[in-house]
Amino acid sequence: MKKSILVALMVILSLLIRSEGNARSKIINMTCDQQLENNITLFMPNFVRTMEIIGTLLRTSRNGTAISGTGPDGNYGLGQCYGDLSPQDCILCYAEARTILPSCFPHNGGRIYLDGCFMRVQNYSFFHEYTGPNDMVVCGNTTAKSGLFGAAVREAVGNAVVEGSGNWDYFARGESVVNVNESVFVMADCWRTLSPAECRRCLENASAAISKCLPSSEGRALNSGCFMRYSDTDFLNPIPVATISSNRGMVLAIVVSIVSSVTVLTVALMIILYIMKHRLIQKKRRGSYDAKKLSKMLNDSSLHFKYSTIEKATSNWNECNKLGQGGFGTVYKGVLSDGREIAVKRLFFNNKFRATDFYNEVNMISSVEHKNLVRLLGCSCSGPESILVYEYLPNLSLDRFIFDATKGKTLNWQKRFLIISGTAEGLVYLHENTKNRIIHRDIKAANILLDLRLRAKIADFGLARSFQDDQSHISTAIAGTLGYMAPEYLAHGQLTEKADVYSFGVLLLEIVTGMENNKSKTAEYTDSLVSIVWNHFQEDTVEEIFDPNLMMQHYVNTNDLKEIKKVIQVGLLCTQEAPSLRPSMSIVLKMLAKDETLPLPSNPPFIDEKTMELNDISDKLQFYNYGDNDCSIATVSHSDFYPR
Ligand SMILES: *[C@@H]1O[C@H](CO)[C@@H](O)[C@H](O)[C@H]1NC(C)=O
Ligand SMILES: *[C@@H]1O[C@H](CO)[C@@H](O)[C@H](O)[C@H]1NC(C)=O
Ligand SMILES: *[C@@H]1O[C@H](CO)[C@@H](O)[C@H](O)[C@H]1NC(C)=O
Ligand SMILES: *[C@@H]1O[C@H](CO)[C@@H](O)[C@H](O)[C@H]1NC(C)=O
Ligand SMILES: *[C@@H]1O[C@H](CO)[C@@H](O)[C@H](O)[C@H]1NC(C)=O
Ligand SMILES: *[C@@H]1O[C@H](CO)[C@@H](O)[C@H](O)[C@H]1NC(C)=O
Ligand SMILES: *[C@@H]1O[C@H](CO)[C@@H](O)[C@H](O)[C@H]1NC(C)=O
Repeated sequence: MKKSILVALMVILSLLIRSEGNARSKIINMTCDQQLENNITLFMPNFVRTMEIIGTLLRTSRNGTAISGTGPDGNYGLGQCYGDLSPQDCILCYAEARTILPSCFPHNGGRIYLDGCFMRVQNYSFFHEYTGPNDMVVCGNTTAKSGLFGAAVREAVGNAVVEGSGNWDYFARGESVVNVNESVFVMADCWRTLSPAECRRCLENASAAISKCLPSSEGRALNSGCFMRYSDTDFLNPIPVATISSNRGMVLAIVVSIVSSVTVLTVALMIILYIMKHRLIQKKRRGSYDAKKLSKMLNDSSLHFKYSTIEKATSNWNECNKLGQGGFGTVYKGVLSDGREIAVKRLFFNNKFRATDFYNEVNMISSVEHKNLVRLLGCSCSGPESILVYEYLPNLSLDRFIFDATKGKTLNWQKRFLIISGTAEGLVYLHENTKNRIIHRDIKAANILLDLRLRAKIADFGLARSFQDDQSHISTAIAGTLGYMAPEYLAHGQLTEKADVYSFGVLLLEIVTGMENNKSKTAEYTDSLVSIVWNHFQEDTVEEIFDPNLMMQHYVNTNDLKEIKKVIQVGLLCTQEAPSLRPSMSIVLKMLAKDETLPLPSNPPFIDEKTMELNDISDKLQFYNYGDNDCSIATVSHSDFYPR
């Protein structure tokens, strides 16, 4: 009698004490559309916005839809976690989906099926599609099963069709016993945008398709409107989360009434044993993706920022706080509760990273520290989005000074020379630090940030490195800016430190002349900056192209003039056509520091940029490129102190 009460109590308590389930964030398949986006300027913000809205919705619900923009570049999105995922696991699964799906870009749509969730984006409303030509089945394991197993699968799948389309949440799960040693586990889930009839037709189609996997021990149907899976191993999360809160009151009442009992100690002991066993089983069930371990690792790390902290710091991603659209994401200004200012990069094209990889990458980049490099403070790695947190530099980027007739006056030659040396020092450190040799790939004025005392700090290093094995279009287009890219890299994708040296050379010429290399594509000047400077150098008339802002300064003395000329020569040495002739960054640094005769440069490459077939979106992508916002940032509360 006493024993049966204990058993009953334990069962109820096990409902209450739910350990985190399994996020099942394994990717089953992803398909991208064939059509390219129509207009990237319109498409990108819509796409990013859709993912953000769905991400927000999934934090409180297991499904979400979003529509951003209209017309051919409008974006319709749907995200859904299957019915047995806890809110926490749903966020983890979606984080994986939203990280991988953008690799469909520049195609204008795609869908991704994971074992725990689904996501799709298109430029039209697909919310009522339930079957289609892209549907497929994925059969998991070729181990042949008995006929009895097949019969059990058919039975369980049949039940799931009826139950799934009948349930309020379009979710069904079930188990069908084959024999004492063996069971079949089934799960079905329809997108919540379907009508019950559409859901039923989708599941019927899926059940017919999935039975083609037999006699395999594992099968999955990936339909336009639903997901179905059977397996001989129990992949289901132990308790459907929705029922938990309603049990709580009852459980509490029972617990309270029993507290006085003398058996309390025994109960406690048995519960502890039960939980330990339960946890052990959980651990075994969880595959390679160990969500718990990951979240512990993140929580123990000083690099980890809570997603809510970041959200608060940027006043919920307020447009006013937007600093720029960088190669890998949008940058916002943020203020932490302790008053510290940060720059927050919200990554959207992030197709290699998984949460663990992402964290490791951040760990690596943040260990690269130098006075001339922008510090990476950490990340929000496990939240609904991948976010990087940098130190904030109030003076923004170098291009805002040297290409601006008014602001250019604030940078006299001495200051410009310090910026040049600082940038060179930063690059030497990146190229020659023994732990992780880093090629920046995108040195340009917009990526040189200035601190309060106008000292140079290189931004955005390390990220391109993480993308180097990624052959996709987007990374090629993004990982460099036309006009700064070395010819061998542009033409053959050959990447060495000398590609950075080339970009640095272009930067030197820009700093001295105040001319923007990229402007060469407009009517303003038709030759590239490098060839303009080269021609003047040949004719010994370089003074003619010095930035008028520099020459206006009364205190440009003969020493400065000599130095300016030297920098031009170094710039031309760096932009020589043959990479082997370009000096290494440490030699460049020596040339700048010492007063010795420099070798004569050979000719730079004469590329006609207009003929290059490159999707030149990178012009618009930089770390900080927005005008000064004069919106004031709402003060944040002190309750959410960071970092952990
Ligand atoms: C998805 O399925 C297609 C067709 O079977 C296959 O070619 C592709 O490699 C799969 N993709 C992934 C990511 O598994
Ligand atoms: C894309 O749309 C923007 C904004 O409407 C427009 O300025 C731009 O010309 C368009 N680009 C193309 C290639 O149509
Ligand atoms: C989830 O789907 C249901 C049914 O379509 C809908 O009522 C609910 O608003 C959706 N939830 C969200 C967050 O979109
Ligand atoms: C979706 O995009 C494609 C290609 O960009 C375009 O041809 C098509 O008209 C768009 N669809 C809608 C509904 O606007
Ligand atoms: C499921 O739907 C697809 C796409 O409409 C169709 O080609 C297929 O024949 C259907 N399968 C079954 C078994 O009805
Ligand atoms: C296939 O299933 C059998 C038993 O059903 C299992 O022992 C084996 O590990 C599975 N193989 C794979 C690759 O999952
Ligand atoms: C179940 O497993 C036991 C021990 O592994 C074995 O002896 C027995 O024959 C199995 N029963 C069936 C129905 O396969």
